[in-house]
Amino acid sequence: MSDVSESLIVYFSASGNTKSAAEKISRQTQAEVLAIQPATPYPEAYEDLATVGKKEIDEQILPDLAPLPMNLNAYQTIYLGFPIWWDQPPMLVARFLKEKGLVNKRVIVFATSYSSTIDNSLQVLKKWTENTAVEILGGFLANNEQEIQTGLASWTD
Ligand SMILES: Cc1cc2nc3c(=O)[nH]c(=O)nc-3n(C[C@H](O)[C@H](O)[C@H](O)COP(=O)(O)O)c2cc1C
Repeated sequence: MSDVSESLIVYFSASGNTKSAAEKISRQTQAEVLAIQPATPYPEAYEDLATVGKKEIDEQILPDLAPLPMNLNAYQTIYLGFPIWWDQPPMLVARFLKEKGLVNKRVIVFATSYSSTIDNSLQVLKKWTENTAVEILGGFLANNEQEIQTGLASWTD
């Protein structure tokens, strides 16, 4: 397992599932958690959220981030979590990667979904970080305790 003080869990969650996964991962790893949010909050109603989220993907819009209360410099490993939207990460995650860089950091991805696997989301993340010094190690679905246990065992030393 990575040195506790060098790991941080960063997540986005619209309806709480990824937040719950992040908290479970925190209990396992002792890493701190940090939520990212859009500067303009997403609508709560599913239909409205779906409309906004789909438009962002279709038009490749990177929504602005709400200010982060902490600096990521001290952390070497970032657990990056999000809900899968249309078989990929929300565009807010692209904004986070672009703005925060994560250069020379190792990124372990976790995601929650209704039925999608994490495979395409990992491909999209690798595309978003192409030619950068961000290392996407891999990732796992974190929909339940079992997936989290197995995922952490696979991606931490
Ligand atoms: C806009 C939107 C798009 C979604 N697209 C997918 C999808 O492509 N595949 C899937 O399995 N689940 C999809 N879901 C379901 C979410 O991934 C799932 O409910 C997730 O756990 C929500 O996490 P959260 O509570 O942290 O926001 C979608 C949900 C929303 C709101």
